[in-house]
Amino acid sequence: MIDDVRAIEWQGDVLLLLDQRQLPKKTIYLEIDSVDAAIASIKALVVRGAPAIGITAAYAVVLAARSRYRESAERWRELIREDLIKLAAARPTAVNLSWALQRMQGIIDAVDGDPVPPLFGEARQIHENDIKANQTMGDYGADLIKNPGPVLTHCNTGSLATGGYGTALGVIRSAYVQRRVTAVFATETRPWLQGSRLTAWELQRDGIPVSLITDSAAAWLMQQKPIEWVIVGADRIAANGDVANKIGTYNLAVAARRHGVNFMVVAPTSTIDRDISSGEQIPVEERAETEILGTAGYAEGVVDIGAWNPVFDVTPASLIDAIVTENGVVLEPTRDRIERLFTK
Ligand code: MRU
Repeated sequence: MIDDVRAIEWQGDVLLLLDQRQLPKKTIYLEIDSVDAAIASIKALVVRGAPAIGITAAYAVVLAARSRYRESAERWRELIREDLIKLAAARPTAVNLSWALQRMQGIIDAVDGDPVPPLFGEARQIHENDIKANQTMGDYGADLIKNPGPVLTHCNTGSLATGGYGTALGVIRSAYVQRRVTAVFATETRPWLQGSRLTAWELQRDGIPVSLITDSAAAWLMQQKPIEWVIVGADRIAANGDVANKIGTYNLAVAARRHGVNFMVVAPTSTIDRDISSGEQIPVEERAETEILGTAGYAEGVVDIGAWNPVFDVTPASLIDAIVTENGVVLEPTRDRIERLFTK
């Protein structure tokens, strides 16, 4: 297992973000030296994936504090507030963003003197803990796969979407090493093609056999091939176990139930939003029409029409067989079972 790609690195006094829009053709790291540059990168999908967005936001707070403290050692706490508000609004669905900001706020409230070293320490810990959580989830998730065979995954949930190793892709990595997963079917994931550009790239680098399918081939795949598990990540999980994830996840869950295929969601507890009781309260990001009206590489469709481009959907808990977190596995998720993850 190589798993040598890292989307987020802190080097010297700048944040390096792997520009995921350019993959797999080019591997270019952008130097991010201000909170505004970090916000622009999150919005433009330079960095994407719920845990990776949270980690980036944590480092962005370090950049903001550095500049605000230089501006005024007395008033930096007041000045940084507007940066935190802008950061929180960069993308609406992944709750890891506000989770990371809350952790950083705890340090901001407590610190005396130069805030940069303790904030950097906190960001580093958020980053490192995410990788550890992914490795733990890899083992928990792999244990659920009883019969060796191919699995289906959606979007990108690997090292690129996290601090490293990945959530759903982490389970696939661990299960492949244990010979529980023999091959992966990856959806293209329109319109940004996180599946064909990112997931396929990560799996190929690790020598894990991967076959691409169009998003619309998934139900037919389940009918035609011996798929035992669909394994996906999450952007936000409500207290009752409803899961927001990349658009198309709900389709997969419906098709999986129809075909008797198990459905696994893999996400760290930082993705669970206990403040919202159900998926109805999850804000679903809608992005520009142009993202789906034109796609590089082939002719555009009809022009001068509208488009609806929700980039996430919400899968009801009743269609999910297992939610895997670093605190344990929740089978057939309910509010009580999810809550127990936090009371162990
Ligand atoms: O729009 P994106 O690429 O940020 O969406 C990413 C996803 O939906 C992932 O499945 C999710 O963040 C889980 S990543 C570990």
